[in-house]
Amino acid sequence: MSPTKKIIIANWKANPTSLDQAKSLFEATVKAATQYPSVQTVVCPPFVYLEELSTWLKSQAGDKTVSLGVQDVWEAAGPFTGEISPEMVRGLGVQYVLVGHSDRRYKLGESDELINRKLKAALQAGITPVLLVGEKEAEDYRQDILIDQMARDLEGLNAEEVAKVLVAYEPVWAISTSANSRPDTPENTLEAIGMIKEILHKNWQLNADQLQILYGGSVNETNAVNFLSHPEIAGAVIGGASLKPEEFAHILQLVNNVQK
Ligand code: PGA
Repeated sequence: MSPTKKIIIANWKANPTSLDQAKSLFEATVKAATQYPSVQTVVCPPFVYLEELSTWLKSQAGDKTVSLGVQDVWEAAGPFTGEISPEMVRGLGVQYVLVGHSDRRYKLGESDELINRKLKAALQAGITPVLLVGEKEAEDYRQDILIDQMARDLEGLNAEEVAKVLVAYEPVWAISTSANSRPDTPENTLEAIGMIKEILHKNWQLNADQLQILYGGSVNETNAVNFLSHPEIAGAVIGGASLKPEEFAHILQLVNNVQK
């Protein structure tokens, strides 16, 4: 992957409700993505659709512009009722996993300790973790929250491992389904990305140019270019708009054009 290729991650969450709908959304997404090779498109469907979509994707000879991701993963196979291990999803061609999404942190009570364990397991299995961090309310003191989340979530990882983690700044108040949500401003996002890079430099001696930091929160066809035209914003995590095939295709086209 060229270092300048933007990464656009479709986070479908618990959508859509049938396999047929999932297949048609995925086929439309892949069809669009193959037209825009300057973008690395990652689709994270619910687990139940993964095998079918993975088989179909493999049948699309030579397609490398779309990768599969998952929205969560547990540490290992074994006595963990209801869970899925990194090896299981890797066997289906999964290359990315979302870790620490605010839906899981705040609606499902996932702790930083669990996030840390999941990150380590994903890295060990050779799956790229996408670590989502960000404050809950716009008024929250962001810097302290980022410092605290990253210290706990990345605890025990060495610099080489941390460099493999994609960090996404996703303020919870900006997620389209949050109450009174609104997209962040690119200026505010750039500031947060600066803080994240500083934390990674201070604790793991990583340099800004080694790091790809993404943004998430109400990215749509109207604002995508405002964010993604900045070289410091390496990509986006997109929820709501990734479920609308025409809008998502338009976002990929716009981001592809930014890269030219
Ligand atoms: P949104 O979701 O694009 O609908 O705001 C982003 C996310 O929750 O990852």
